[in-house]
Amino acid sequence: MSAGVCDLTLDPKSFRTIADLAYRESGLTLVEEKASMIQSRLRPRLRMLGLRDFAQYSAFVGSDAGTDERKQLISALTTNVTHFFRENHHFKTLEKVIDARLPELRAGKRMRIWSAGCSNGQEAYSAAMTLLERCPKAAEYDLRILATDIDPQVVSFARRGSYAARLMDGVSETLRKTYFDRGTGGQEPMFTAKPELKNLIHFNELNLLAPWPMRGSFDVIFCRNVVIYFDLATQTGLWPRFLKALRPDGHLFLGHSERIAAPESLGFCTDGPTSYRPLTS
Ligand SMILES: C[S@@+](CC[C@H](N)C(=O)[O-])C[C@H]1O[C@@H](n2cnc3c(N)ncnc32)[C@H](O)[C@@H]1O
Repeated sequence: MSAGVCDLTLDPKSFRTIADLAYRESGLTLVEEKASMIQSRLRPRLRMLGLRDFAQYSAFVGSDAGTDERKQLISALTTNVTHFFRENHHFKTLEKVIDARLPELRAGKRMRIWSAGCSNGQEAYSAAMTLLERCPKAAEYDLRILATDIDPQVVSFARRGSYAARLMDGVSETLRKTYFDRGTGGQEPMFTAKPELKNLIHFNELNLLAPWPMRGSFDVIFCRNVVIYFDLATQTGLWPRFLKALRPDGHLFLGHSERIAAPESLGFCTDGPTSYRPLTS
């Protein structure tokens, strides 16, 4: 290659290095059929870093100096598609859970919800709106939502809680008026979650494959449209951890195309589509 000429084609050896790294770091399973998508998502990183080809990039991202770049890599490779009240039947179940927990909440007991793989936050804000609709005094109770994601960029977006009008589909006019402040963005109106909504949610970075620092158990865990990017071994490793993190009468919600294979053998029973509960003996 002559000096100054770049070749931004993802070669098979670099693909393997990057795929192995992504798997080790985050559980993402990258298949060769997706090589051109991976190439186009990572090209801006090579340009940003002034690297000439993927061989240089894969060497850098795997090196000791590449710690920060590994986060950028995962961020570029993860799929962050989400929207408010996605797979709404889970929020209908959440309404019932809240109603059932109200006496405990009034008696000072805690209720915890976890949006695991929260992306840009719409899942957590949808849960917060559901809580406030059923329980307007939520702030007075020991009632909180934890929202986590491996990708620091989506976590800071979610924490800001500002959504362009086109991202607000699924939030009714009444809910918009009640829980969001309307402002102006560049081209279109922006809706920013009001403090009463934001204050219910704690956003944090968390890799689901790393140890979970949370203490106490969750009433409801949303882990939807996350494990679909993991292989069976990684998924199977997660189920017992979710079981341990749930209250004995808790709920685990998965995405529409995700399933726990043989749930009973792992201590779960099925409780509606993509909804699981710990088996009670
Ligand atoms: C498609 S979004 C799903 C968002 C939301 N749960 C929903 O269903 O609309 C998948 C999210 O999982 C996150 N993710 C992928 N691997 C992860 C891991 N190992 N630990 C935590 N989050 C992860 C991605 O960063 C992404 O934001």
